[in-house]
Amino acid sequence: MMLRRLVGLLTGTSSSAPDDVRRQVANVPARPAQMPPPRMPFEKAFKLADGIEGMMSTFSMELMDSLLSFQEALGIAGPVLEFGVYKGRSAALISAHVLPEERFILVDVHKYISDETLQSMFRIPEFTLGSSEDFASSATAVELHRKVRFMHVDSSHAYRTTLAEMRLAEQLLADGGILCLDDFANLHYSQVLPAVYKFLYTEKHDLCVFLVTNAKAYLCRSAYFDAYAGFVLDGLQDEMRARGNAETMLARTDADVDYRAFYLRPRSPGEAGDRYGPELYGSHYAAP
Ligand SMILES: C[S@@+](CC[C@H](N)C(=O)[O-])C[C@H]1O[C@@H](n2cnc3c(N)ncnc32)[C@H](O)[C@@H]1O
Repeated sequence: MMLRRLVGLLTGTSSSAPDDVRRQVANVPARPAQMPPPRMPFEKAFKLADGIEGMMSTFSMELMDSLLSFQEALGIAGPVLEFGVYKGRSAALISAHVLPEERFILVDVHKYISDETLQSMFRIPEFTLGSSEDFASSATAVELHRKVRFMHVDSSHAYRTTLAEMRLAEQLLADGGILCLDDFANLHYSQVLPAVYKFLYTEKHDLCVFLVTNAKAYLCRSAYFDAYAGFVLDGLQDEMRARGNAETMLARTDADVDYRAFYLRPRSPGEAGDRYGPELYGSHYAAP
């Protein structure tokens, strides 16, 4: 029991560790009392992204915009990376969050994206033609070691590629970085799940899932779990509301030390409230 608590304190995964101890261990910045306004109004970012053909839903845009805004409110900065660009829909949304001094790198095996679209983004990206596997052995990957603050993986979704992308994320992600995996639970790409969990449960790393949706999984370093999961628990639905989506449902039906991610989805017709099964799972909503 003592050992588990000590490991929890050192890794930041113990929900009973006092806040100041956890922050001291991991240098996790304190959460601001109030969310500052987003760098770019969501409507502007949405308008640009929605005008580009692609796969990202409005729900995913609202969510990604909220998480990026929260990350910025924590003061976390650094390079931003996307594998799988297609015509630039998700990249356009992300571009609204990239500061002039931050690198913004897009990687794809085909150049479906036009130069006009690249130039239209809020922050003009560096486009790299090639696979995420090639990128892993590039000089740029060495430069980005433990610096990337946001990484969106939306490439082939092949088992072996996903496994390699997970290994690369472990090397590239900054302390407060977020890894976003697309089509995580899309069973047309059911190989993504075993690739992700083979990595998470059999390899040495420091990543954990803090949120899943019908489309994506969001991971962070374990020391930041409480920060990001805490925001999901008591800030995210307000942020979704501020972006025009008042109909969300948050679920957590287990809070095991080995897996305690939240699930956010659109509220179903006839459903009331914004927490799933509070009478059964109320204790899982008490703390991140
Ligand atoms: C689903 S699309 C990306 C959609 C895009 N993110 C959007 O929001 O519309 C997948 C993209 O991944 C690219 N791709 C496939 N395999 C890849 C790999 N191994 N590395 C990088 N990109 C890859 C494809 O060329 C394609 O453009």
